[in-house]
Amino acid sequence: MDAKVKVGILGCGNIFPQYVKGCRSFQVLEVVACADIDLNRARDRAEEYAVPKACTPDELLNDPEVQLVVNLTVPQAHVQTNLDAIAAGKNVHAEKPFALKREDGRRILDAAAARGVLVGCAPDTFLGGGLQTCRKLIDDGWIGEPVAATAFMMGHGPESWHPNPDFFYKFGGGPLFDMGPYYITALVSLLGPVRRVTGSARASFPERIATSQALFGHRISVDVPTHVAGVLDFEAGPVATLVMSFDVWAAQLPRIEIYGSEGTLSVPDPNTFGGPVKVHRAGSDEWNEVPLTHSAAVGRGIGAADLAYALLCGRPHRASGQLAHHVLDVMESLYDASDSGTHVLLQSTVERPAPLPLGLLAGTLDS
Ligand SMILES: NC(=O)c1ccc[n+]([C@@H]2O[C@H](COP(=O)([O-])OP(=O)(O)OC[C@H]3O[C@@H](n4cnc5c(N)ncnc54)[C@H](O)[C@@H]3O)[C@@H](O)[C@H]2O)c1
Repeated sequence: MDAKVKVGILGCGNIFPQYVKGCRSFQVLEVVACADIDLNRARDRAEEYAVPKACTPDELLNDPEVQLVVNLTVPQAHVQTNLDAIAAGKNVHAEKPFALKREDGRRILDAAAARGVLVGCAPDTFLGGGLQTCRKLIDDGWIGEPVAATAFMMGHGPESWHPNPDFFYKFGGGPLFDMGPYYITALVSLLGPVRRVTGSARASFPERIATSQALFGHRISVDVPTHVAGVLDFEAGPVATLVMSFDVWAAQLPRIEIYGSEGTLSVPDPNTFGGPVKVHRAGSDEWNEVPLTHSAAVGRGIGAADLAYALLCGRPHRASGQLAHHVLDVMESLYDASDSGTHVLLQSTVERPAPLPLGLLAGTLDS
C-alpha cells in the first residue's frame, strides 16, 4: 500500500523524539507538522527533527493537510485537546491516560463517533514482539486455561530524571494513571475485559524533591495516591493482583506473570516492545525462553500506524479509544474501591484487540 496518512504532532516535550522516529518507521505515516503551546519548543523540535512545519495548536487543528493528530500533551490537557481535535474533524491517537474521569472518556468516544473520526490511545506496547508473543502462547494453549495473574510496577517516581516531573503528582498522574495503562492494557489484551475490582490506595509522602541535574531541589506537592494495591477479576475468570507504586526504592518482583492450568507465562516489561518471554510448563523443572513470534524492532507510533491502516482499509484499530476507556474505568474503579471499601463493578467492557498477523514486513502492519 502506497497511501500515507498525514500526521500532526501536538505537544513537543520529552516523548516527542520517540514518536517522530516511531511514526517515520511506518510507511503509512508522514509527519507533516508539530505544535505546542510553547511555540518556540515546537520550532526547536521541528528544526532538530526535520518536521516541515511548526505552528500553534490552533493552526495545527485548522491545517487541512493534517489527517491524524498524535496528542502528546500532558495528561491534564488530554480531554480538552482530544475534544478540540475531534471537533476540527481530525482523527486522534492520544497519549495515555485517555482521560482522567470515565465520563470524559465517554465524551471523547461519543464526540468521535458523532464526527465520524477514529480515536486511539497509548499504550501501544501490547503490539510489540514481546506482548504479541505472549498473546499467541496463551491463545495457542501453552499455559492452558489462565486462572490468575500478577502485575507489579515498583519504583520511586520520575522526579530523578524527568525534565518536567510536576504532572506526575497531580490529578491524572501517580503510578496508577501513569504506568497502570501499560500493565492493565497488557492484561486486557492477554486475558480480556475486567468485570470488577477492589483495592487500596495511599499517598505515602506529601512532597517530592526533584534530583535531576536541571531541577535539583525543586519541590513538588503530592496530590494523588502514590501506592495502589488492587485485585482485578476478569470476565473470563482469572483474578489478578496489581501493585503500582512510586513509593518503593527496591523490589524483586516480576513485572507480569500469567498463571495457567498447564503452566506459567513470564511476560516482559509492558513499557517495552521486546522480550524476554518465558514459559514454565507443568511437569518441567525449568523456565524456557521462547523466541519472539513478532518483531520487537518497533516503537511508539505503532498504534498510530495501526489506526492509519484502519482509516485506509476500514478495519478496526487495536489501540482503540474503547480499549483505553475500559482501562481508565479499571483505574478509576480502583480509586473508587479504595474510597468506598468495596468491590466496584466496571461500567464498561471491551473486546480483546485482534492479534497482529504473523510475518509482517518491516514498516508495515498488513500481511
Ligand atoms: N516522557 C516519557 O517517557 C513518556 C513515555 C510514555 C508516555 N508519555 C506520555 O506522553 C505525554 C507527554 O509526556 P512528556 O513526558 O512528553 O511531557 P512533557 O511535559 O515533557 O511534554 C508535554 C508537552 O505538551 C505541551 N502542552 C501542554 N499542554 C498543551 C496543550 N494544551 N496544547 C499543546 N501543547 C501542550 C507542553 O508545553 C509540553 O511541551 C504524557 O501523557 C505522558 O504520560 C511520556
